[in-house]
Amino acid sequence: MLNIGVLISGGGTNLQSLIDHINSGYINGKIAAVISNKKDAFGLKRAEREKIESLWIDRKSYDSDEEYNRRIIDELKARDVDLVVLAGYLKVLSEEFIREYKNRIINIHPSLIPSFCGKGYYGERVHEEALKYGVKYTGVTVHFVDEGTDTGPIILQRVVEVKEDDTVETLKERVLKVEHQALPEAVRLYCEGNIKLDGRKVIIW
Ligand code: GRF
Repeated sequence: MLNIGVLISGGGTNLQSLIDHINSGYINGKIAAVISNKKDAFGLKRAEREKIESLWIDRKSYDSDEEYNRRIIDELKARDVDLVVLAGYLKVLSEEFIREYKNRIINIHPSLIPSFCGKGYYGERVHEEALKYGVKYTGVTVHFVDEGTDTGPIILQRVVEVKEDDTVETLKERVLKVEHQALPEAVRLYCEGNIKLDGRKVIIW
């Protein structure tokens, strides 16, 4: 059974979905730690409720991003983490982190990459821009994390239709519901060893 480390910055509804899918037996894995860069992230409470080890690591206690990331790597290693899941984690990972966990870091993004992604595209801004552009479909992308922002190999994508009367709130809510299925699905595939990389193409078998 694989050990999973989850990094969060906020509410943690995706974390909750992972917890629920582990508890139901859908994912054959264990969350070894939940780490947040924000002290008041509600996701930390969700972890505590489940008796999952939860840590707040404050960037301000470190002189550089590298040192901050090193501390997170150390915490993950101390718990033999095999897979790192970014579930609404709003900080950029250091090069060392990405090297250390190459092809073992999964992120979820609330659009169909390569649309509405990259630097500055996080949170509600993603949905705002999708609505402004007038796309008829948006969606969810689960991907491996590489050195770029939202540029890593795509594991799976799910489509969400944009309705004429959608607001940022309604669209975000519908996309989130799909996220809550897509992320556990990708993590399950990973934990079963059913994901293979061929260059930047992800093969699911
Ligand atoms: C989600 O929309 C996710 O795609 C993005 O950040 C949001 C996190 O939401 N990366 P939550 O904290 O899981 O509720």
